[in-house]
Amino acid sequence: MGGGHAKADDAQAVHPEQWPRATWPLPKDAALEQRLAALMAKMTVEEKVGQLIQADVLSVTPEDVRKYRLGAILAGGNSKPNGAQLANAEQWKALSEAFYRASMDTRDGHVAIPLLFGIDAVHGHNNAVGATLFPQNVGLGATHDPSLIREIGAATAAEVRATGINWTFAPTVALPQDVRWGRSYEGYSQDPALVMQYAAAMVEGLQGKVGTPEFLDSSHAIATAKHFLADGGTKNGKDQGDAEISETALRTLHAAGYPPSIDAGVQTVMASFSSWNGQKMHGNKALLTDVLKGRMDFQGFVVGDWNAHGQVQGCTNDDCAASINAGLDMLMAPDSWRGLYEHTLAEVKSGVIPMSRVNDAVARILRVKLRAGLFDAGAPSTQPLVVKSAELVGSPAHRAIARRAVRESLVLLKNNGGVLPIDPRKRILVAGDGADSISRQSGGWTLDWQGTGLKNENFPGAQSIGAGIVEQVRAAGGAADIAADGHYTGKPDVAVVVFGEDPYAEFQGDIPNLLYRPGDDRDLELIRRLRGDGIPVVAVFLSGRPLWVNREINAADAFVAAWLPGSEGGGVADVLLRTRDGRVANDFRGKLSYAWPRSAVQGQGEPQFPLGFGLTYADHTALPKLSEASGISGEQIPVGDYLERGKAVHGYTFTLVGADGAAVPGDVSSASTADASLRMAGIDFKAQEDARRFAWNNDKAQLTIRAHSPMDLDREANGDVLLVMTIRVDALPTQDAWVGMGCGNGCQGHVALGPQLAKLTPGKWVRVGVPLKCFRAAGVDMHHVDQPFAWGAGKGTELAISRVALGTDVDQVIDCAK
Ligand code: BGC
Ligand code: BGC
Repeated sequence: MGGGHAKADDAQAVHPEQWPRATWPLPKDAALEQRLAALMAKMTVEEKVGQLIQADVLSVTPEDVRKYRLGAILAGGNSKPNGAQLANAEQWKALSEAFYRASMDTRDGHVAIPLLFGIDAVHGHNNAVGATLFPQNVGLGATHDPSLIREIGAATAAEVRATGINWTFAPTVALPQDVRWGRSYEGYSQDPALVMQYAAAMVEGLQGKVGTPEFLDSSHAIATAKHFLADGGTKNGKDQGDAEISETALRTLHAAGYPPSIDAGVQTVMASFSSWNGQKMHGNKALLTDVLKGRMDFQGFVVGDWNAHGQVQGCTNDDCAASINAGLDMLMAPDSWRGLYEHTLAEVKSGVIPMSRVNDAVARILRVKLRAGLFDAGAPSTQPLVVKSAELVGSPAHRAIARRAVRESLVLLKNNGGVLPIDPRKRILVAGDGADSISRQSGGWTLDWQGTGLKNENFPGAQSIGAGIVEQVRAAGGAADIAADGHYTGKPDVAVVVFGEDPYAEFQGDIPNLLYRPGDDRDLELIRRLRGDGIPVVAVFLSGRPLWVNREINAADAFVAAWLPGSEGGGVADVLLRTRDGRVANDFRGKLSYAWPRSAVQGQGEPQFPLGFGLTYADHTALPKLSEASGISGEQIPVGDYLERGKAVHGYTFTLVGADGAAVPGDVSSASTADASLRMAGIDFKAQEDARRFAWNNDKAQLTIRAHSPMDLDREANGDVLLVMTIRVDALPTQDAWVGMGCGNGCQGHVALGPQLAKLTPGKWVRVGVPLKCFRAAGVDMHHVDQPFAWGAGKGTELAISRVALGTDVDQVIDCAK
């Protein structure tokens, strides 16, 4: 064995005796054990293996469950009943009913074992249309209010149970250390002390308190502490990355949430996609078995993440004895369950997976089912909460809790000249593209995996931040209007500008630095324009993490970090506005649970606003001007964003190439190639000059975006990621238009667009997407993309482009396969 190996082994060594202990709070239950033994005695090895596997509802039918006796199903972020895009409580109820009945069907002589149905109810029952959407965890962290967390857990559990679902993949007890990680908002805080308190409170809220009759009763749901371990500790904040840290950091920081979750009786723990010092967590026996089940006395079961076992060395999505042997009890095999079942069965029969390990895993799973009363609960349709689901899902009582959470989560970073609180009898303008967008204020894991493509009408019963302000101002006798672009007729006394990050979830949310919308200053310009008109501006920033927004903070009179508040936007007005008789009904209470950065360089220097910071109306000190140096040089390349508002973003260069091959810079507002074969002019799409219009005078001319260093887009090309382009076709006299990607000298692949472009309505803006796999099929080496975008077209073509990026959300897919 080489020295390199010895080192790696050293870095992966675990000393369980040094880890914190936990106490499994449930006493041995003789009656339960007797029932368990009787059940297991009747089960065949096939039935036992079935219990170890969880399939996704998009890839499994009730008939499959009946036949294979699977232990669980899940509904992933984009998996809705019958493949619908959106689903309401009634549709979820019908789905859970059908699967429950299949699991109880004994017609082939099988043992009836009710199945578990898991879903990501991570900020309320966020996959059900009409459910209450609580602030995402980053906002809950700012409330520093464990009793509120307990109430949110109970309300969420009730809405989940009301749809016949019995298990949620929450809480996330990650300790995100690098907020470039796109899942940072799923974590409560960077501070282990707060995560410890919240983990216990959320588990208690969801499951009920151990030792009381409410524990795991029919109005509570099974909770999951996730993702074990150090999901928030990966290098550069990379999702599914590697935590290159010491055992001490693992133990003292990232493990913090687990002992309190276990002490509170959490029934499941989800293993992390990530690695620790090069070893995938799904294969780490020392941590899954020796630490979690041994030292920490965890007696529930460990569930895997979405095909994450397939990433363990030597494994594939449908074959992974190593994970089970390392201590995983249930494998999440959304679409791979059938092959996994067959392989696992064979491995159990051949002894690759010891029978003792299978029996232990099955016993753990069945104990959870027994404790949760699933054997006695009957069909979902007969359960008390399901019967009154119409009253429970999105109920006024739950919405009131969410609204309180919104109020408590707001963190005031600046309030110069006391512009806040606002007198509601005045004339108020609510501006910004977050002013009236329930989707933007809710973030990812909201009715959709990435939370994109949603309209306000998809959120019955919810209220946008702007609508909440308008309602209260009008009730107080003032005047208020919403105008996203900030236009007004009568000059307002004050403007509230609501803006922030677009929704994102896993993978799509990772960023290379802490710049907010690099290359796109539209919000800053809006704030400055209103200020320039002599209107005081209150900035309300929606984000899943603290970002570098010093310029926006400087430009505004007041600045509020509102995180991702969810469906009850009215909670913002509750704090920003005085009452009609001039009182302050709700002061700011939120304090940062993540430090706010001084520059856009992750981890550099002291924070601008430390952990625990947050002003109240009693603070009158003005915030001095902050540094406007971001610290980011042109060398950093944002992931997956190439052209924004008509201009190449940092790290990319936009060029016009004439028919004669001579290039001219395209990152200007107007240009022409020397041979006049391609002309470009700035035009307005949503804002001033935020798009460019091109006219081809020769079909050899092309537009290109060059990356300053080549990118590996192979992983994205394996998934369903698209090259998304916001375009408007004005004239298309010929059909030979193409979009291309380049991969080094002389390497360029073209995807023909002509016939499909011809079908677009001329003069209409549209987001079209071309699957990345089309570029691969066209000969592009996806491991070395140095030109993520190129476009050519016939003479006479007139085309406008505003944005080019990787994404999933489009109006129309232009698929090369069709
Ligand atoms: C995520 C988990 C989630 C699971 C099921 C995974 O990709 O990492 O947090 O619970 O999908 O949707
Ligand atoms: C699912 C998510 C899952 C993700 C993992 C998505 O298609 O909807 O639940 O976490 O894939 O890649």
